[in-house]
Amino acid sequence: MPETRFADIRRFRSIDSTNRYLLDEARAGAPEGMVVVADHQTAGRGRLGRSWEAPAGANLLVSVLLRPAIDPGQRHLATSAVALAAVDAIRAAGMLGVSIKWPNDLVDPEGRKLAGVLAESDLPSASAAEGQPPPVVVGIGINVNWPATESDLPPELAGLAVSLRQSTGTRVDREALFLAFLAALEPRVADLAAPAGRARLAGDLLADCTTVGTRVRVDLPDGSFEGTATGISPEGHLVVATDGATRTVVAGDVVHVRAGS
Ligand code: BTN
Repeated sequence: MPETRFADIRRFRSIDSTNRYLLDEARAGAPEGMVVVADHQTAGRGRLGRSWEAPAGANLLVSVLLRPAIDPGQRHLATSAVALAAVDAIRAAGMLGVSIKWPNDLVDPEGRKLAGVLAESDLPSASAAEGQPPPVVVGIGINVNWPATESDLPPELAGLAVSLRQSTGTRVDREALFLAFLAALEPRVADLAAPAGRARLAGDLLADCTTVGTRVRVDLPDGSFEGTATGISPEGHLVVATDGATRTVVAGDVVHVRAGS
């Protein structure tokens, strides 16, 4: 893509996982900016060991290789940069009601999932990359034209997923959305490099985050707790007020709990 760092775009009709491909490239020392986009994935990866599936040719399946020169504790902002760029591109495509459910799901006003983001790092490869900052591969799957209608969804996703096509009432040009996403991502990634930019990313995440202000249950590997999400930390983490204390959630599954449930 001209005038951005995303010049090396690799396109696949079918691949196991665009994230897996870029992690291998990162291990071999590939520089920041490599992009992989596929019509179909045979082993698409989701968060928390889940799979990510979409019919061939319907949705946007893309991964980018980033090497932000930031502290390990700030790396969530790289994921946020991708989520925010996707929000920018989706709004430009006509869906204004999109927001971010922390940590990085894009949802519609009914809370149905429009896109998911998966960041994977491979820190041991840093030594192989000759002085480059360690990589983070950030993949995003955006439901562009599938599901076309609610009846396309398998029963387990009924009421939980939505597409851009459903939201806007018209088929969406996947390639145009892809290019708009990369154009929006360039300034977002540039923001990672300086304190003022990182503050802007955290501020934009706060502005677009539907989780803040809601009652949440946070599921961690060693148990769950409930509280009210009150903010986003400068590192992009979720701040949750519990009984008499404030906890900052760095990673975990967050469930929006309805009042009274
Ligand atoms: C989630 O569970 O919400 C994250 C889903 C991430 C899916 C995308 S599709 C492109 C990239 N390649 C993968 O294997 N996964 C991500």
